[in-house]
Amino acid sequence: MNLPDYIEAKKRNKNYSTISYNIDSEFKNKYKGKTYFIKTYGCQMNEHDTENIKAILEEMGYSEVLDYEKADLVMLNTCSIRENAHNKAFGMLGRLKHLKEDKPNLIIGLCGCMAQEVGVVDILLKKYKFVNFVMGTHNIYRLPFILDKAIEFDEQQIEVFSKEGDLIENIPVKRENNFKAWVNIIYGCDKFCTYCIVPYTRGGERSRKKESILDEVKQLYESGYKEITLLGQNVNAYGKDLYDDYGLGELLEDVAKIGIPRITFMTSHPWDFTDKMIDVIAKYSNIMPYIHLPLQSGSSKILKLMGRRYTKESYLELFDKMKKKIPNVSISTDIIVGFPGETEDDFKQTLEVANYCKYDNAFTFIYSPRENTPAAKLKDDVSLDEKEKRLYQLNDVVNKYFLENNKKLIGKKVSVLVEGVSEKKENNFFGYTFNNKLINFTGEAKVGDIVLVEVTDAKTWSLDGKISE
Ligand code: 5AD
Ligand code: SF4
Repeated sequence: MNLPDYIEAKKRNKNYSTISYNIDSEFKNKYKGKTYFIKTYGCQMNEHDTENIKAILEEMGYSEVLDYEKADLVMLNTCSIRENAHNKAFGMLGRLKHLKEDKPNLIIGLCGCMAQEVGVVDILLKKYKFVNFVMGTHNIYRLPFILDKAIEFDEQQIEVFSKEGDLIENIPVKRENNFKAWVNIIYGCDKFCTYCIVPYTRGGERSRKKESILDEVKQLYESGYKEITLLGQNVNAYGKDLYDDYGLGELLEDVAKIGIPRITFMTSHPWDFTDKMIDVIAKYSNIMPYIHLPLQSGSSKILKLMGRRYTKESYLELFDKMKKKIPNVSISTDIIVGFPGETEDDFKQTLEVANYCKYDNAFTFIYSPRENTPAAKLKDDVSLDEKEKRLYQLNDVVNKYFLENNKKLIGKKVSVLVEGVSEKKENNFFGYTFNNKLINFTGEAKVGDIVLVEVTDAKTWSLDGKISE
């Protein structure tokens, strides 16, 4: 049994090697005829991990079912970012407990960020004994061993490495989408923002070698992919652990030269967003003019308490530079309300920044104390009532600008990657614009094509349009 350990999880060690995944022949197709269901919570990193987990399970002979009640194996790929993510996973575990009473051979596994939490694993050991195995975020490549043991033995299998270990290449992937793909460029986070659990659940920053990334993108391009998202908890730190003079700016440029029609990246910390990155985004017509730039708070005092390493002023300076240098750039953000010590005046400053930036999209959250983080030790002194009031007030402000920005597009022709067919009407499609805005449109189109659409109407969270002649 390998249990999570926060002292180990906090350590940062830059000595790791890159090793290549290969399934042990004894597990290949061993479980042919068995079925699996996997439920994913949380961010794109988890979604992409699920694509790896599915491919490993299929190498072992499992096939996917979409109804968890019909599966021989149910896995939950969990998220720790806020308490409500926990609640959802525990709610699902409750349903699985009942299912297992009728299906005693059902195998249940929990993986993802919650598996890295000391408190969660403690609860699973004591009260959720029906969970057959727990697998940490650094242990995905070990899934065949862990699952095999969980099937063979009655006792709960817990394998959670708190330190990340080696960087594993060539894990197989079952991509969910035939046109859009995620490509990991960096794992982990060393920023240690005081409210955030990610540096403990995802380990230290480790960049993939540029050659591996560029090869993956080339293969995707050759197999017809239209859009790739370079993925990491903090992509701006790309390369710092490997190279002296090769960072995200240089990588974006090399990726753009491959020729894939749309490139984007996620998520960026404002602190190490370089001029080189801005210049490259502005220069290449296949890099999407869309940047997610988390603000978190508009008060420099709160930003300092959050350990964000920038001030309101330096954030706005960066924001202005992006708007000036990148034509038609869309900027979205994340904002937390009710951080410990946030006064009415601090919150007013957040509203001021939101009013200034007029974001194209914003994800707003109530602060949720996370186990073992430095902020959890601060007095949580804003009442829940007040936090909710601030959230509603902030949402009113940001929503107003989503609509205002969308309305400016009415009558314009925008490039759209067709993602799907609307279920309601024939010849109705949906897709995303080059600025990452959702658009529903009519006309003749094919899923996976990039088409020109004239915007006919604007709503808060989407646009309407028709294929342009
Ligand atoms: N409470 C509330 N929101 C949080 N986020 C991260 N940690 C917390 C927390 N403890 C938000 C941040 C981050 C986004 C992914 O989730 O805004 O950018
Ligand atoms: Fe969390 Fe901050 Fe790292 Fe983002 S940059 S994952 S908010 S610690």
